[in-house]
Amino acid sequence: MKKYNFGAGPSTISDEVYRKLSKSIIKLNDYDLSILEISHRSNIFDDILEKTIYLFRKLLNINNDYSVLFLSGGATKQFFMIPYNFLENIKKNECAGYIDSGFWSYKAINYAKYFGNIDVIASSRHDNYKFIPKKYKILFDKKKYKYLHFTSNNTIVGTQFKQIPKINNIPIISDMSSDILSKFINIRDFDMIYASSQKNIGPLGVTIVIIKKEFAKSISNNIPGIMNYKNHINSKSVMNTPNIFAIYGIMLNLEWLKNKGGIKIIEEENNLKAKLLYSEIDRNSMLEGTVNIEDRSFMNICFNIKNKDLKDKLVMLLNENNIVGFLGHKLHPYFRISLYNAINLHQVKFLIKILQLFEKKYS
Ligand SMILES: Cc1ncc(COP(=O)(O)O)c(C=O)c1O
Repeated sequence: MKKYNFGAGPSTISDEVYRKLSKSIIKLNDYDLSILEISHRSNIFDDILEKTIYLFRKLLNINNDYSVLFLSGGATKQFFMIPYNFLENIKKNECAGYIDSGFWSYKAINYAKYFGNIDVIASSRHDNYKFIPKKYKILFDKKKYKYLHFTSNNTIVGTQFKQIPKINNIPIISDMSSDILSKFINIRDFDMIYASSQKNIGPLGVTIVIIKKEFAKSISNNIPGIMNYKNHINSKSVMNTPNIFAIYGIMLNLEWLKNKGGIKIIEEENNLKAKLLYSEIDRNSMLEGTVNIEDRSFMNICFNIKNKDLKDKLVMLLNENNIVGFLGHKLHPYFRISLYNAINLHQVKFLIKILQLFEKKYS
């Protein structure tokens, strides 16, 4: 039996996609070539790229005001590429606003500080990021905000924004690495979204950037070409050699999602999976949640064992039952179950059964 992977990313992908992807390594459809040897300047790749962009646009309802880019360097590279692009040559009273809601947003803030004035308008760091900060300190009279950055889902601590922090016409940039494609979003609320591919999007190795063309117009030409979003828009993501294999895998994964019924259906499934697991955590006498209930993430579900001495017992039980990827990040060393799109209801119910068995055995 293949293991059930509840890891936070790279995460599991559907069997159908694994099968098609593995076939493509030997021979890509009717082309007598492996996916690993086709050129990024070939018509074959043009078709793959075009279809992948089409599927993104269709699933997230992205109109032509936005470009969909496939870059490298992970979401982490965006932490400095964004301020490099938008804070170049800013005036003394100009800055970028950041919401500090988790370890990734904190990292984004620290990287951005190398490039310009950063104003942290809200933070829950003092309380171990147990909640989503909702009160913003904005100094409109003194500062002009070039953009507002927030992390829509905090993968490490397991909290999630339930509403977009819209503030007076400030352009919004969101790191959606761990909840993109899991639920409905209105693309018009954002000037830019970015996400690593290794969770809901597909195989690891690509960073998706969805950027409003008008927003990109303000970027100066005074930065290295490969760093400039405008150049990536103009060269349609092929400024240099892109990760063709991962992009092909993303295309297959988006096709799988579309055939399943798209965002509406996956959102219903994701809500159901998360509700079932949270109900069990709240019911099970051995377990407790680790964050504010109203801010709980539907993608990354963190919990703790009330009696810490029994931690190894639960680890052993889960391992024995072929469940992996359940331990949290070293900065937040609790249990963490990631319920990305490809995790199905049967897998969640099986996990719940094991949690119940743990309670029966050790309470
Ligand atoms: C919300 C969020 N932002 C950024 C990152 C960093 O992504 P990468 O390792 O692709 O740079 C992660 C990784 O898990 C994440 O969850």
